[in-house]
Amino acid sequence: MNKKPNIAIVGATGVVGTTFLKVLEERNFPYNKITMLASERSAGKTVVFKGIEHPVQALNEHSFDEGIDIALFSAGGSTSEKYAPIAASHGVIVIDNSSAWRMDPTVPLVVPEVNPGDIKWNHGIIANPNCSTIQAVVALKPLHDKYRIKRIVYSTYQAVSGSGIKGINDLKNGTSIAYPHPIVGNCIPHIDVFLENGYTKEEMKMIHETRKILGDQSIAITATTVRVPVFDCHSESINLEFEKPFEVEEVKALLAKSPGIVLRDDPANNVYPLASEATGTDPVYVGRIRRDESVQNGLNMWVVADNIRKGAATNAVQIAEELIK
Ligand code: A2P
Repeated sequence: MNKKPNIAIVGATGVVGTTFLKVLEERNFPYNKITMLASERSAGKTVVFKGIEHPVQALNEHSFDEGIDIALFSAGGSTSEKYAPIAASHGVIVIDNSSAWRMDPTVPLVVPEVNPGDIKWNHGIIANPNCSTIQAVVALKPLHDKYRIKRIVYSTYQAVSGSGIKGINDLKNGTSIAYPHPIVGNCIPHIDVFLENGYTKEEMKMIHETRKILGDQSIAITATTVRVPVFDCHSESINLEFEKPFEVEEVKALLAKSPGIVLRDDPANNVYPLASEATGTDPVYVGRIRRDESVQNGLNMWVVADNIRKGAATNAVQIAEELIK
């Protein structure tokens, strides 16, 4: 891979797309040329990157015909389904933020702190996991390596920015356009569509993606995912059962030194991870670490991260950084 690649941003006008640009700029990602792509509606508009206005082009079958090395996609599942293979067939490496390719066995699903080695076996598409899954597995990986996780119970409290501009506007304006009920005044236990087994697709994404990223199909996992009236950052209660015994202090020390994690765990001083403090930052914050006294080798923790940054844009840019190493 070219050390200064030509990059394309697909969905450059969206919530995640504009954050791709912010993160690329902040991390001073080396590049030669950048191309901004979105729907026909945005053709002729401009987006600002590094203080310069860049024209937005309408995405089409020929957008990847020449000279693009890496494309960061966040323009919805159907756009990725159609255009990621077209891009890959032209030698582009696609880093795709949609759910379209995540569970395809030929597509690596990557969180750089957890399974960077999986990037190597890509065939032109690398999937960025679901936002709720990314922050969870960053916290779970060191624990799984040391104590082997037998079972996970996820309960999530997810921000409206995960639904794009429509979700943000529903919380701002008291409307009910992105969701089946007003998000103002409600916690809605319904993210993505309901499936035949009674779970939502978001819940099943967390279950399947966690196993794929950790490379362990034997972990028992259940999840309840809830949209809450918070603009940014997903919060998660994670309940774990380990095979091996542990000490709580040892768990805290292990997490504190693990990549991508900041420990915020001083309840006596009201210190625990908070969405308002995590907003606009990249770490995964972990706190409220305590023994689950109802089972053998059980642990509870509270995990918060910015869903648009580590949960989407930053994770994708980290994958791109691995590609040009
Ligand atoms: P556009 O602004 O032209 O609609 P969000 O998740 O914040 O709503 O953003 C979605 C992003 O995906 C936007 O950049 C949007 O572009 C882009 N997008 C949506 N549909 C398509 C499409 N069919 N082709 C290309 N880009 C699309």
